[in-house]
Amino acid sequence: MNTPATSLAASPGGAELTQLRVGLGERSYDIVIGPGLLAEAGTRIAALRPGARVGIVTDRNVADRHLGTVEAALGEAGLTPTPVIVEPGEKSKCFAVFEQVVDALLAARIERGDLVLALGGGVVGDLAGFAAAALRRGVDFVQAPTSLLAQVDSSVGGKTGINSRHGKNLVGAFHQPILVLADTGALDTLPLREFRSGYAEVAKYGLIDNAPFFAWLERKWEAVFGGGPARIEAIATSCASKAAVVSRDEKETGDRALLNLGHTFGHALEAGAGFSQRLLHGEAVAVGMAQAFRFSAAQGLCAPADAERVETHLRTVGLPTRIADIPGELPDTDGLMGLIGQDKKVSRGALTFILARGIGQSFIARDVDPAEVRAFLEGERRGG
Ligand SMILES: NC(=O)c1ccc[n+]([C@@H]2O[C@H](COP(=O)([O-])OP(=O)(O)OC[C@H]3O[C@@H](n4cnc5c(N)ncnc54)[C@H](O)[C@@H]3O)[C@@H](O)[C@H]2O)c1
Ligand SMILES: [Zn+2]
Repeated sequence: MNTPATSLAASPGGAELTQLRVGLGERSYDIVIGPGLLAEAGTRIAALRPGARVGIVTDRNVADRHLGTVEAALGEAGLTPTPVIVEPGEKSKCFAVFEQVVDALLAARIERGDLVLALGGGVVGDLAGFAAAALRRGVDFVQAPTSLLAQVDSSVGGKTGINSRHGKNLVGAFHQPILVLADTGALDTLPLREFRSGYAEVAKYGLIDNAPFFAWLERKWEAVFGGGPARIEAIATSCASKAAVVSRDEKETGDRALLNLGHTFGHALEAGAGFSQRLLHGEAVAVGMAQAFRFSAAQGLCAPADAERVETHLRTVGLPTRIADIPGELPDTDGLMGLIGQDKKVSRGALTFILARGIGQSFIARDVDPAEVRAFLEGERRGG
């Protein structure tokens, strides 16, 4: 156990900003959430590492929209920025691009005392974070997440890494950032489909252990999508949830696994769709969460009305909830079972799932019987 999980405090930067602290002893750090933070990146980073060189790792989409703001802000604060721009998309989380990024950071003479800034979505955050972890055996790292998924999930918690031909996220390191700057205004340029996909992870925090938050989302989701205070509140609540779990269980030996709600079914579907634009991660998680609740209801663990409520909300915001909602071909039931079996969350043949006794009452179910999962998936494939 660690010291205080998180604390909410008014920010000196302005009334609209929210600040959380992730309590991890000497690796503790602040998450600042609100509009206009990219323009403040210079003063905020200079306050921690005055005069540092900053390797800004970003992708082409984000560079076109936000790199100018960040470079100017860093320069004005007496920092020395060097941009390292990669192609957008999951393919950049690979050894070849990792090598290019590390080489570019070395060429920029990023040394101990300097830092790496990840400006982008989860792809950039995972890649840049791993580069920072490896460079000279570890340099400091700041996250400036620009997708909703990155703001509420990947930028908090310190997991970094790349993919291998053997699977996703198999090569990486735990490397906590020293600061997270979540500029909620930067989300205005994010495509709606990407925003919606990230929203699945927001809803997840309500479903895990915060029923009032889920009920609030049912009422306020349009305002969250629209921007403004409701968006900031939703992101702050999500970050606080993730930060609290990470503080309790930094290396995922215990209840950090709750964050995998919807991810066992979801990953199998994502893999089945080839990790393509056909099914974004959050879309797969939306189907996976709806399935986890339907499976829980089928097992008599949770009321069918709760499973229906989950499905209704996800559908209302435009997320898929059924296998039939996913365009194109998918593996058959045996194929999906094989993909579930390959998932990290399997230990010695028994399946581990995050199931629910109701909204906000998720729990880790070890020893789930694969035959029951198979029967459930068979029913789902028939559209039952
Ligand atoms: N480290 C963790 O704990 C963790 C947790 C969850 C997910 N992840 C990883 O995160 C990745 C997915 O992250 P993602 O969904 O952010 O994907 P992403 O980084 O590919 O971003 C999605 C798309 O949005 C674009 N984009 C991002 N911000 C934008 C903005 N402000 N304006 C316009 N376009 C913008 C990107 O260029 C990209 O095309 C996966 O690789 C996943 O493994 C990591
Ligand atoms: Zn996820």
